Amino acid sequence: MSAKSVSGKVTVVGAGFYGSTTALRLAEYNIFETVVLTDILEGKPEGLALDMNQSRSIEGFETKIIGATTTADGAGYEATANSDVVVITAGLPRKPGMSRMDLIGVNAGIVRGVAENIAKHSPNAVIIVVSNPLDEMTALTQLATNFPKNRVMGQAGMLDTARFTNFVAEKLGVAVGSVKTLTLGSHGDTMVPVPSRCTVDGKPLSDLLSQTEIDELVDRTRNGGAEVVALLKTGSAYYAPSAAAARMAKAVIEDSGAVMPVCAWVDGEYGISGVYLGVEAEIGRSGVKKVVETKLTDSELAGLKEAAEAVRAKQADVQTL
Ligand code: LAC
Repeated sequence: MSAKSVSGKVTVVGAGFYGSTTALRLAEYNIFETVVLTDILEGKPEGLALDMNQSRSIEGFETKIIGATTTADGAGYEATANSDVVVITAGLPRKPGMSRMDLIGVNAGIVRGVAENIAKHSPNAVIIVVSNPLDEMTALTQLATNFPKNRVMGQAGMLDTARFTNFVAEKLGVAVGSVKTLTLGSHGDTMVPVPSRCTVDGKPLSDLLSQTEIDELVDRTRNGGAEVVALLKTGSAYYAPSAAAARMAKAVIEDSGAVMPVCAWVDGEYGISGVYLGVEAEIGRSGVKKVVETKLTDSELAGLKEAAEAVRAKQADVQTL
């Protein structure tokens, strides 16, 4: 079998469960030449990279994984130089009982430092932020890198939507592939489910479930991350989150134009401006190629506007963090 041609470089910052699982998924796609995994824990990214590389002949992928220990003052970032895509997972995850917002102070310091180093070494990269609180860390990364806003986006909607889809499929006992759902807004309390865009085999969800049942699934989706944290007791979810982040990075490097729910800079769409918010967007080599407006009901649009104002207030705070 001839080797598939692989090209491009993606860096995953942070070798915790989220980062390392993302790095492995990206490597297993066999589309990048190089996946770089970094962490401040000395030896951890190198050890994980060595282990992942040893799985290549079994799983049949050629992508080379490079592990690099980095420091807050920028040592080690040479290994990430000229990445096409960077996924930032750095920062602390939640503990049981914590909200994502409880992480803002500590994670702002970590993410700002990472973003500055990435900007220095990979000035043309598209950055996908996954650190929490997501919408605020995405805004902060754009400020710290001073990258064009289309080249910085956050991962949340893919994950929230996937959770919603899974809950609907389980509730109805149908294949996940037959279910389509959509959530917009923030990755948090002001997550906006869009029932008008939820279908099962093309049928409106509202024909199959009562409003109370839909509300229950929406609630479970909104608390989807916390439910996993409470069970794990230490750390937060990473299988579904890493799948979402890796698919976004794939859409970037392949310039696929796939439409995905992501945290993107909104500039006039839905009558909302000047804020990073969960919306659907076309993803490609330039990052967010375009925000795609979908038809919303009046109450869905009101929910999205409310979410925009809530995250706008918090995003203003990150400038000083
Ligand atoms: C979650 C975290 C990763 O929702 O935000 O699981």
